[in-house]
Amino acid sequence: MAMNTITIVNGKRNENSPTESSAEIPVLIDGSRHTAQPGERLVDLINRVGLKLSQVCYHHQLGPIQTCDTCLVEIGGQLVRACATTVTSGMSVTTASSKAHAARQEAFDRILVNHMLYCTVCDNNNGNCTVHNTTKLLAIEHQQIPFKKKPYAVDNTNPFYRYDPDQCILCGRCVEACQNLQVNETLSINWEDPHPRVQWDGGSTIGESSCVSCGHCITVCPCNALMEKSMLGQAGFFTGISKESLDGMIDVVKDVEPETGYGAILRLSEIESAMRESRIRRTKTVCTYCGVGCSFDVWTKDRHILKVEPADGPTNGVSTCIKGKFGWDYVNAPDRLTKPLIREGDKFREASWDEALDLVARRFTEIKAQHGPDSLAFISSSKCTNEESYLMQKLARAVIGTNNIDNCSRYCQAPATTGLFRTVGYGGDSGSIRDIENASLVLIIGSNTAESHPVLATRVKRAHKLHGQKLIVSDLRENEMARRADIFLHPKPATDLVWLSAITRYLLENGLAHDDFLRQWVNGLDEYKKTLAPFTMEFASQTCGLPVETLEKVAHMIAEASGVCILWAMGVTQQSQGSDTSTAISNLLLVTGNYMRTGTGAYPLRGHNNVQGAGDSGAAPNTVPGYQSVDDPEVRARFESAWKVKLPSTKGLDNHQMVDAIHEGKLKSLYLEGEEMAIVDSNANHVAAAFSKLDFFVVQDIFFSTTCRFADVVLPATPSLEKEGTFTSTERRIQRLYQVFEPIPGSRPDWKITQDIANRLNANWNYAHPSEIMSEMASLAPMLAGVNYERLEGYKSLQWPVAADGSDQPLLYTKKFNFPDGKARLFPVSWSGPVEKSNTEFDLHLNNGRLLEHFHEGNLTYRVKGIQEKTPDTFVEISPELAQERGVQSGTWLLLISRYGQVRVRALVTDRVSGRELYMPMNSTESPVNRLTSSITDPVTHTPAFKEASVHMQVLPEIGETPLPRVNPRFGHPTPQHGVEVERKWKRPDYHFPGNGLVQIKQ
Ligand code: SF4
Ligand code: SF4
Ligand code: SF4
Ligand code: FES
Repeated sequence: MAMNTITIVNGKRNENSPTESSAEIPVLIDGSRHTAQPGERLVDLINRVGLKLSQVCYHHQLGPIQTCDTCLVEIGGQLVRACATTVTSGMSVTTASSKAHAARQEAFDRILVNHMLYCTVCDNNNGNCTVHNTTKLLAIEHQQIPFKKKPYAVDNTNPFYRYDPDQCILCGRCVEACQNLQVNETLSINWEDPHPRVQWDGGSTIGESSCVSCGHCITVCPCNALMEKSMLGQAGFFTGISKESLDGMIDVVKDVEPETGYGAILRLSEIESAMRESRIRRTKTVCTYCGVGCSFDVWTKDRHILKVEPADGPTNGVSTCIKGKFGWDYVNAPDRLTKPLIREGDKFREASWDEALDLVARRFTEIKAQHGPDSLAFISSSKCTNEESYLMQKLARAVIGTNNIDNCSRYCQAPATTGLFRTVGYGGDSGSIRDIENASLVLIIGSNTAESHPVLATRVKRAHKLHGQKLIVSDLRENEMARRADIFLHPKPATDLVWLSAITRYLLENGLAHDDFLRQWVNGLDEYKKTLAPFTMEFASQTCGLPVETLEKVAHMIAEASGVCILWAMGVTQQSQGSDTSTAISNLLLVTGNYMRTGTGAYPLRGHNNVQGAGDSGAAPNTVPGYQSVDDPEVRARFESAWKVKLPSTKGLDNHQMVDAIHEGKLKSLYLEGEEMAIVDSNANHVAAAFSKLDFFVVQDIFFSTTCRFADVVLPATPSLEKEGTFTSTERRIQRLYQVFEPIPGSRPDWKITQDIANRLNANWNYAHPSEIMSEMASLAPMLAGVNYERLEGYKSLQWPVAADGSDQPLLYTKKFNFPDGKARLFPVSWSGPVEKSNTEFDLHLNNGRLLEHFHEGNLTYRVKGIQEKTPDTFVEISPELAQERGVQSGTWLLLISRYGQVRVRALVTDRVSGRELYMPMNSTESPVNRLTSSITDPVTHTPAFKEASVHMQVLPEIGETPLPRVNPRFGHPTPQHGVEVERKWKRPDYHFPGNGLVQIKQ
């Protein structure tokens, strides 16, 4: 297959499914022959062959919810819902009969009771309004039953969207999306009420509900009942007028309707809608936040973002989280950097680009001449594109002559990559998110997936809720996934390696391993078995604080599952044994045969949007693009020939070593692209002290970050919406982003800045577009051989490795593992225990991580007003028992003191944490948690042990506001139910199946 193909069967996107002609099913529709796929829904077939059938409540990603009855067709003289009918061989379907048409009109008439058609003055009149288009399709001229207002006010209490009950047609798409796709379980419809409406938490305002502002409901709403506030008054030519004028215009429209009919009114509104196309741009981009890789169209009018609209993103479909849907205000923030800055003493002055770039080139040249190329170092950003990381490492290697290049995967993902390189051969997820959905058991270790990788988590939550998938979660905190899990393990900190290895030993000793798989596909079993000797269940129980019975139960669940996927993140990797624990995970998967097919495999969840790509593109001290070693002469020869330079052959410094080398006086200059390293690196005080020792420090960013304070030159870059390029998501999926806005005046895309610097150092680069950079990278990295911009056009994507003919590998290891003999390797590991331990002075364990609403320190998300309103500050989570012991309540100010620094922060008392374990989100520039973390690292990768921190807690006399306001969704009360529950609608006395004449709906 040349690249991903997409088929929709039963509303599920199937990627890379070959078109199966052998199993085609013959069907007659309106007398014409068509062929369906096995299991295909009639509505999907009708849509696929291009027939026009109304279908208001149907959305192919939600499946049939059967609330609208507008898709009725005749089969064998009976009216049936096309959305709920699976095609069978020989089926004869009539869509065009007067009976079916009348029934559809009747059904739609009942919908219009709940919706006033004022399209010309509606912000949703953009050519894609289902209610508008259905009115036209069904040639509705006049309503049989008049529109009736509902006795509810518009709800404006969420900062990002509003609900207008009067426009709500009660289709329930939003409920289905919230209950069964996002699985936040906030929405329902009170079908038994005389005046049903959509409810948040069964009757709360939106603002005080459990709504996490993911936007699913708004995206799937087929009309203007749910609208992004950023659209209101902005999208239409006549919609920005005052409410009085708008109401007047709506009245005019309604007054002429009895005479002209809807046809004339719709024609007018379509003229207005067509006019909008001249000023509304829809540009595809890829989310700049986490590694899930959601893609969507950004609707803009000049520099105003009207909305983010996901549709059929290869990863996310219609899904987003709050950040991808609403987290973009920062792009237009007034404090964007627009001029290069040059340090003068303790101050900065603005400078021209020429002056700043000349200075950078001159100082790089001087330092290289004086101290040698290895006195300079370069750090690329996991927020930047693949092309930008490629150029950054090329600048380091080919222009300066050093392998001192790294990216922030050092802080998170390097141990997982190591664990996978050791055992299966590729340092990436072994399958796609689709494969995780297909697992019969998902095991999540050290990952707050619902907050850190929200859209990926929705797929697990959905499979668990609807499809019987089992879920086991191991974490220190009872996060959302833990609360949903069949088994929640809470091991003692830094002991995952022990229980994982004990379970592996137990499986091997009790005949529960996958012997055939081991024989055929795995090397090193005998040696590995010997190293498991210490890992008895009793040892694991004692070390991890987990009951033997629970561990045995987990072992049996793994053994009995038809497919196991293990997901892990920083709770594993940011430990002093992150590489070994990641290896133990992969060992367990190998012993149980959980590789090489869908529903199995290893999934280290990549944190940043392009942390996978930064490593792939060679922003690493030991590998050039495509994970080819710098000490391999053949590799170097290939790059030297292409770049026409001599390349350094010894591994360079990684981020962590760079900091030490600065302190030691060996590293004189650092060029840092888009990283807030002064507060996101562990032991932040130590890192900041290093920066102040640099002879020359260049920081490239879009804001004047904390790190910029240490710079000698600050270069204003552009965010993702202002440039082109590619990102590679956690599932190794390479996707294009297109330029939504011109760079704000004075800023430049990172790739252009790097090229400008290289050319001042006589590199003579001439890249006119990022596509040329990708072509060069693909020609040098076999793993990316077939990647080019044509194959990635629009929403097309490729999952590496990509062969020269463009065929990619959504699922790795289908034929072999990535070692010369094709076999995987069991890699022995031992346990040494946490390095940073609690003692009587530092008596509390401090964990840290992300929050759903913010990304990292919050440089981007605090500039989003709505996020700021919902989640204004960081805090430290304290268990109720510890709070009681120390006399702390939510809002009490605390001083947390570690061996490395201290921070002042407010308490949040919650049972998400227990005992003497604290949790602090990393989103603060004033009180960054990394002032408390150490310089202790995983010895293999030098990834800091961020998660091994001990602190002393001093209770301060002040008590402030609770750090999370009441409008934060964590205070809401979800109302889980089985989707939209249409059966309750069908039981209403005023409901009957259409086709038997109209029923007057009781008012
Ligand atoms: S969580 Fe909120 S935004 Fe997301 S689907 Fe539910 S109601 Fe809509
Ligand atoms: S708010 Fe929900 S129920 Fe109402 S029209 Fe929109 S999607 Fe349908
Ligand atoms: S899940 Fe990740 S990629 Fe998707 S919208 Fe949220 S932050 Fe962006
Ligand atoms: S589309 Fe079939 S019932 Fe609504």
